[in-house]
Amino acid sequence: MSKVFVTRQIPEEGIKMLADKGYDVAVAQQDGAMERGQLLKAVAGVDAVLALLTDKVDGELLDAAGKQLKIVANYAVGYDNIDLAAAKERGVMISNTPEVLSETVAEHTFALLLAIAHRIVESDTFMRGGKYKGWGPMLLLGRDLSHKTLGVVGLGRIGSLVVKHAVRGFDMNVVYYDVKQNPAFEAEYGARYMQLPELLREADFVSIHVPLLPTTKHLMGEKEFALMKNTAYLVNTSRGPIVDEVALVHALQSGVIAGAALDVFESEPKMAPGLEKLDNVIITPHTASATIETRAKMAQLAAENIIAALEGKTPPTLVATK
Ligand code: GLV
Ligand code: GLV
Repeated sequence: MSKVFVTRQIPEEGIKMLADKGYDVAVAQQDGAMERGQLLKAVAGVDAVLALLTDKVDGELLDAAGKQLKIVANYAVGYDNIDLAAAKERGVMISNTPEVLSETVAEHTFALLLAIAHRIVESDTFMRGGKYKGWGPMLLLGRDLSHKTLGVVGLGRIGSLVVKHAVRGFDMNVVYYDVKQNPAFEAEYGARYMQLPELLREADFVSIHVPLLPTTKHLMGEKEFALMKNTAYLVNTSRGPIVDEVALVHALQSGVIAGAALDVFESEPKMAPGLEKLDNVIITPHTASATIETRAKMAQLAAENIIAALEGKTPPTLVATK
């Protein structure tokens, strides 16, 4: 009987699919991410691991599992927690959960864009603090999204949906940067392709949608913030280390940019000192894909990948190991 280890409680839908196949499924029961030593012990002898983005999957972990290990199914679209070369060397398949979460992350991106532009969190705090003394013409003025320029960095599945909402929902102008230019997409949405520095100079809102790679680490740093308008906002729902967080705090404190809305942080769960004190920042705890519907779909897709691998088929969302 195949053994599957799930490193943390996830929605039941995925676990049930694995159990229905008759696999021996063990689900870690601890609160929070699994402690490394426990994780290395728990994977010993399993055929499949359903891992989270908080689990470091490297040669050590793959060796601790053993040669029978066929697949590590990551419960996330991003897989920067996984050493792909180590997996390839050992013939272990890696899968992720693309597509099923794109709409939800794009929605969360828009929730952050709207909330930062309309100062929703500040206004809520103001009300709860008993500070509202009656309507005022100058009270808590925000900024419009409509007709402004959105700069999308990374035109993948999520970035493309964000563009669609921006253009169809808010008549925004869109500029984008990606390693690949996409003329068909440009024609459909009137989006203009630019190199990053040019995009940063033009955009009123900059939204990041690239994966974390050696080439995207600190893609946004002091130099890049300096190129942005001092009325512009940064939104990041991708991965924390893409932004130099200390430089961002400095840019926000000194008025180099107007504000930021962040779902991801450089060394989660920590934040750069000072970030939490700024009014012009909105922070959510890496919950951009956290809806009941999407988390269930992610669990099912991770389970499908495991089932395919254990049945000798190609997992539907296999990650190409380099
Ligand atoms: C979440 O951050 C994911 O990569 O799915
Ligand atoms: C990730 O799913 C992306 O392509 O943006």
